Amino acid sequence: MAYKKRKRRHKTKWNYKRIAIASTSLAALVVATTVLIIVSGKDKSGDSSYNSGIVADAAQNNSNKKDNLSTVPQQTSVDDKQNETSDNTNAVSNDNVDTPTQNVNPTNQAGNNGMTSKTSKGYSITEVDGITYVDGILIANKTYALPADYNPGAVDSEVMEAFSVMQNAAAREGLNIYISSGFRSYETQNRLYNNYVAKDGKAEADRYSARAGHSEHQTGLCFDLNSIDDSFAATPEGEWVANHAWEYGFIIRYPKGKEDVTGYMYESWHLRYLGKELAKKVYDSGLCLEEYYGITSQYE
Ligand code: DAL
Ligand code: ZN
Repeated sequence: MAYKKRKRRHKTKWNYKRIAIASTSLAALVVATTVLIIVSGKDKSGDSSYNSGIVADAAQNNSNKKDNLSTVPQQTSVDDKQNETSDNTNAVSNDNVDTPTQNVNPTNQAGNNGMTSKTSKGYSITEVDGITYVDGILIANKTYALPADYNPGAVDSEVMEAFSVMQNAAAREGLNIYISSGFRSYETQNRLYNNYVAKDGKAEADRYSARAGHSEHQTGLCFDLNSIDDSFAATPEGEWVANHAWEYGFIIRYPKGKEDVTGYMYESWHLRYLGKELAKKVYDSGLCLEEYYGITSQYE
């Protein structure tokens, strides 16, 4: 009995010792791990904010995607004549979030791989890879075509961001504006135009539909709003757009009474992005883009 008691006491003592050793080891492990985390955090960039920078970037990306997704246009049913639906109206690519707008001559130089000349108003016309820029602004009309393989694939991200701001401003006025047709590829435009020619004849189709390669929709810098028909102009949305689109960097590209110059009938629903500064200048001038720059819009 006495032996047993002594042995139990000894065993208890030994257990206390084991617990003490284990606790010390655990504490040492915690301290070592903490030191390791701090050191490795600084090592990567020499700046302890390195990791939080990545997180901030990811959050920014997500918020960009969210912004773009929130502007995904609603489809609308339109009649056959005006059925200018996009290749991918709904596929507003988020991959384009960080790509620069193609509005401006990417080389920012005159004539480094093409012809340079002057418009009747003295602006430079430069051709880069078959794309025409007037004073650095990409132009697609009846005179100036785009290469068949020019395919940005979606409405430009900067344009979509500007649209989103405009759409939100309109919404605050209780108005609903949405994109019904955005980017259209050469092939889509070709199909549309040929359908219109079959239906209305070439001369009539040329008044409201661009031939393949000549449509501004192929640039990814424009879009059609809401109903895509003449009724839009008199709606509260159409009136608001006519008065305010310039504030967000857009112009009505084919204004009323300018068919002889633009080559197209009045399209109250077709907006072209120029950026705020130029859009204000063009709007204030009361001119269409062709008049503003002193260029033509005529098929050869
Ligand atoms: N409706 C415009 C002119 C186009 O077809 O691009
Ligand atoms: Zn259009």
